[in-house]
Amino acid sequence: MKRKVTKAIFPVAGLGTRFLPATKSIPKEIMTLVDRPLIQYAIDEARAAGIKEFLFVTSRGKSALEDYFDDAPELETSLRKKGKTQMLEELKSTNMDSGAIAYVRQNRALGLGHAVWCARRLVGNESFAVILTDDVIAAEKPCLQQMMEAHEETGGNVVAAMEVPQDKVSSYGVLDIEEDMGDMVKVRGMVEKPAPGTEPSNLAVIGRYILTPNIMRNLNKKKEGAGGEIQLTDAIAEEITAGEPVYGFRFRGQRYDCGSKAGFLQATVAFGLAREELRGEFSTYLDDLHAQKNGAK
Ligand code: G1P
Repeated sequence: MKRKVTKAIFPVAGLGTRFLPATKSIPKEIMTLVDRPLIQYAIDEARAAGIKEFLFVTSRGKSALEDYFDDAPELETSLRKKGKTQMLEELKSTNMDSGAIAYVRQNRALGLGHAVWCARRLVGNESFAVILTDDVIAAEKPCLQQMMEAHEETGGNVVAAMEVPQDKVSSYGVLDIEEDMGDMVKVRGMVEKPAPGTEPSNLAVIGRYILTPNIMRNLNKKKEGAGGEIQLTDAIAEEITAGEPVYGFRFRGQRYDCGSKAGFLQATVAFGLAREELRGEFSTYLDDLHAQKNGAK
């Protein structure tokens, strides 16, 4: 029987320069959509997909991220005393069991592939998932769970994929399609951030991966790729060259690029409107705002 994938790597070492000055003192993964930090969305998605071990690749200045997952006994006692049971339940649902999260440091920012490689000893000889917290995906069935189901049928490496507008393709890892089966795409090549005009397709890799342990072996070679960084895309592409299967998976759901300001704002509005308790007031406000076409002065 195939072993279930129970480990996920969360590369959270990035500096978050696009969100300066906020990220001077808070990790970008702690930035909130409505009232939940980005990392919480990623963790919830991983849990729903059956992940039991959460491997964080962190860096200097990320201690707020580690603290976030501690129990908060004082807060819990105070909420209990005040009879705020719903809030208490919500708070408790974010607690992680001791030992469920492990942290490794990436000492130097050498790229996404390098960050993933930093967790190699914790992954061992098992297939593993990778979740990029910048990519927030709203979906009826969480994206990673959809991918796990697809992976159970295909095995091999599976990456989340989505068609992106032509003028944005060169910001992504891009798939060269061998066979298009609808939801699943058999891949014959992958390029990280192809120069405009050289893209093999407009099917881009989105930040969810299920990978075989071979990927770590490929990353061991520490080959520099696009932007002089060690790229995860290249390590996956190497598997194709070695004759191993790689699939793109067109997930069902709406993806928000929370690594960009515009994407983060869109997600804030969408997740705000999705909350029943906010919807009425917030949508009236948005309608008014839209009519005036004015922002805050
Ligand atoms: C990373 C990956 C890229 C992928 C993208 C998805 O790029 O390297 O292959 O398409 O995430 O969000 P980054 O956004 O870190 O530049």
